[in-house]
Amino acid sequence: MSAQRFRDKVIIVTGGGSGLGEDYCRGFVAEGGKVVCADIDESAAKRTVTSLQETGRKSIAVACDVTSTYDVERMVEEALHTYGRIDALVNNAGVIRRRSLVGTTDEDWDREINTDLKGPFVCARAVVPHMIDRGYGKIVNISSVAGIIGCISTAYSASKAGVNGLTRQWALELAPYGIRVNSVAPGYTATPINEKLRKSPAAKRIGETIPLGWGKPADITAAVLFLSAGESDYITGQTLAVDGGLTTTADMGPEYRNFDR
Ligand SMILES: NC(=O)c1ccc[n+]([C@@H]2O[C@H](COP(=O)([O-])OP(=O)(O)OC[C@H]3O[C@@H](n4cnc5c(N)ncnc54)[C@H](O)[C@@H]3O)[C@@H](O)[C@H]2O)c1
Repeated sequence: MSAQRFRDKVIIVTGGGSGLGEDYCRGFVAEGGKVVCADIDESAAKRTVTSLQETGRKSIAVACDVTSTYDVERMVEEALHTYGRIDALVNNAGVIRRRSLVGTTDEDWDREINTDLKGPFVCARAVVPHMIDRGYGKIVNISSVAGIIGCISTAYSASKAGVNGLTRQWALELAPYGIRVNSVAPGYTATPINEKLRKSPAAKRIGETIPLGWGKPADITAAVLFLSAGESDYITGQTLAVDGGLTTTADMGPEYRNFDR
């Protein structure tokens, strides 16, 4: 039998209708958790939940735009009405627009910053009062290697670096209430968000540059579940890069890697 780290626990996963979020939902329910799968794309959230229910596991789909305080507050009410508690929040919903600095429009900036930076703030603000009342909670913010090194685009880098800042600030502020806050910074992981990039010639070069190559959703899910579970209760304020070594190494090419020559 698999571990049951989330038996009787309730976890909100934003952006749970696709890619990484869908994989986290699957991981949580496989270990006994009840999942609130929130996504701006209601049909995608329902698809995730339907596939989880086929395994006899508990989860609900909620239509929710994380940039809307109204939607997020309704989503939290629905979670509490259905399950009576919230143990963990995974701030995962995100968008990427690859644009040069000069090519970034005001609209690109607003959409990216609203979804990837304001979204986690709006969701945490709505969930934290309940966690304070219970004296316990876990928040996992999904950042990116782009919050650590320059590799994607202006607004995306700004939002993900901002998420790492929020993580440190909230860790300090919420520790007295038993709430732990950490970030996971995925590297290049095959999901719908980078489908176009993966079909381009750059995909192979990216894979060769990362010491352990492209990641799989399961690699990221393992870290998100760890930081959502009780076993990581003494860890807070950290950003854990799950990136195959991308942010800790400099690739100087195959000739340089021949260290014994
Ligand atoms: N895949 C990667 O390589 C990678 C790397 C680093 C970070 N990330 C981060 O991981 C997270 C998930 O990415 P993914 O690869 O699974 O992408 P994805 O496109 O497969 O999934 C993103 C989900 O977020 C939802 N969403 C978008 N805007 C929303 C909003 N305003 N409100 C609610 N839901 C919204 C989408 O409908 C979708 O279901 C994102 O925050 C992304 O920045 C991904």
